[in-house]
Amino acid sequence: MTLRRILRRHLRLTPLRICLIGSSFMCFFFLGIFTLPNKQQIRRANIEDITDTYKEMLLTAATRRKLAQHSRTARKNLIIVSHGRSGSSLMGDIFNHNPSVFYMYEPLQSAKRITKDKSNTNESYSNIVDKFLTGVFRCKFDQPEILADIEKYYRKPDHPRISQAIASPPLCPYKLTDSRWDPKLCYPMTSASLESACKDNYNLTVIKVLMDRIPESNIKTVLTSCNSFDVDCKILFLVRDPRAVIPSSRSFGFFNEKGNKDALQNTRLFSYKLCKETEENLVFIRKLPDFLRKRIKLQRYEDVAMDPLKELSGLYDFVGLPVLESVRKWLNETTQLSRSDCNEKDGAQATCTKDNARVAANRWRWKVHPHDISVIEYYCASVMRLVGYRTVDRSYELLANVTIPLSTHDYEAKNWGLH
Ligand SMILES: *[C@@H]1O[C@H](CO)[C@@H](O)[C@H](O)[C@H]1NC(C)=O
Ligand SMILES: *[C@@H]1O[C@H](CO)[C@@H](O)[C@H](O)[C@H]1NC(C)=O
Ligand SMILES: *[C@@H]1O[C@H](CO)[C@@H](O)[C@H](O)[C@H]1NC(C)=O
Ligand SMILES: *[C@@H]1O[C@H](CO)[C@@H](O)[C@H](O)[C@H]1NC(C)=O
Repeated sequence: MTLRRILRRHLRLTPLRICLIGSSFMCFFFLGIFTLPNKQQIRRANIEDITDTYKEMLLTAATRRKLAQHSRTARKNLIIVSHGRSGSSLMGDIFNHNPSVFYMYEPLQSAKRITKDKSNTNESYSNIVDKFLTGVFRCKFDQPEILADIEKYYRKPDHPRISQAIASPPLCPYKLTDSRWDPKLCYPMTSASLESACKDNYNLTVIKVLMDRIPESNIKTVLTSCNSFDVDCKILFLVRDPRAVIPSSRSFGFFNEKGNKDALQNTRLFSYKLCKETEENLVFIRKLPDFLRKRIKLQRYEDVAMDPLKELSGLYDFVGLPVLESVRKWLNETTQLSRSDCNEKDGAQATCTKDNARVAANRWRWKVHPHDISVIEYYCASVMRLVGYRTVDRSYELLANVTIPLSTHDYEAKNWGLH
């Protein structure tokens, strides 16, 4: 029996129990969520109510026993979740460079593109995402539209190394290290060839997805798609200092300032939304039961930037991969290069991961206008405290003196029992 089915059975009981205890309003509310999933309701619901119920669902002894039994044979997956401009391409590349990993960069882009094209489907985005994730977690790519989009996207000439697994045998004739390697020689994909490449050649699937592409912008959606005994999912929640992320998102055109530029209206809106989503996800994972919290790693970009090789060990340990010398060497080099080392083999600026990481982590301190920094701190102070980013509170001395780190080693989320 799948965990999903057990949950479904359990869910019929849980709301009733809650009804007995709680008010009739609460009863209506929970039954509303779980018997008739209505996205509007979920979005409006208080996240703490949802996580409490979720916790209750998952804590049954039967559920835990089943999970333990199946954890050895289940297909292993890692989902890297972060906002854009948070170093997620580098994080993904750390796994992309491991020959045991079937890596997919932003596969939910396929779901987005397919949803937009109404001649393909009239299904909702969240349905398509759920179907896609349910498949990918088992190395299954059965939907023809998805497969066609994967083929088109991953074989694009402007980012040839975006997924090493998809650019290597058996999906292509030569290895990337072979001088004869050429994306044009790769074989047309079929659902069978992609499935067997993934299943038979790699023991871990890693996908990187931006928060904005996750329905509800919540890790809960991803965990729900993994709720089954034949898959084993871990989540790497990557965060970065919002004072770096938000101005970089603006420079990249994720949003623009219109009208009175000094009012920073859109910077305010973006800061509010980004930090609220981060905080809601943090609250969600903090409230998960122990056995699920251990499957989640909160990773700060700054820690990778400051000591990449140390963090590499922690990341690989989290998913049970041995640290390979080839990966150490690549990471040590790529985090000491500069943006100007990016070339056509690395693809577009957004996908090139070469940069001097130590410099990159602090760059915002001299590039971002102090007014922007004050605005971001105003909206983000509470989430910054949870993950250990020190506010400068308009102190120019603190901002400019780069010998003083603005990410602290001790912070609240460290005590939450995450991996
Ligand atoms: C989606 O709906 C539109 C308008 O009702 C229709 O023309 C189209 O054929 C539908 N597409 C599919 C794949 O069902
Ligand atoms: C995958 O296989 C490699 C090589 O056989 C092994 O070292 C590694 O521990 C395996 N990883 C997982 C997650 O099972
Ligand atoms: C990392 O690179 C630096 C300089 O390029 C080198 O001195 C150092 O030995 C390398 N470290 C490792 C662990 O490879
Ligand atoms: C920077 O901070 C350090 C440590 O607090 C301090 O010793 C140093 O004088 C500061 N430098 C400047 C230029 O203020």
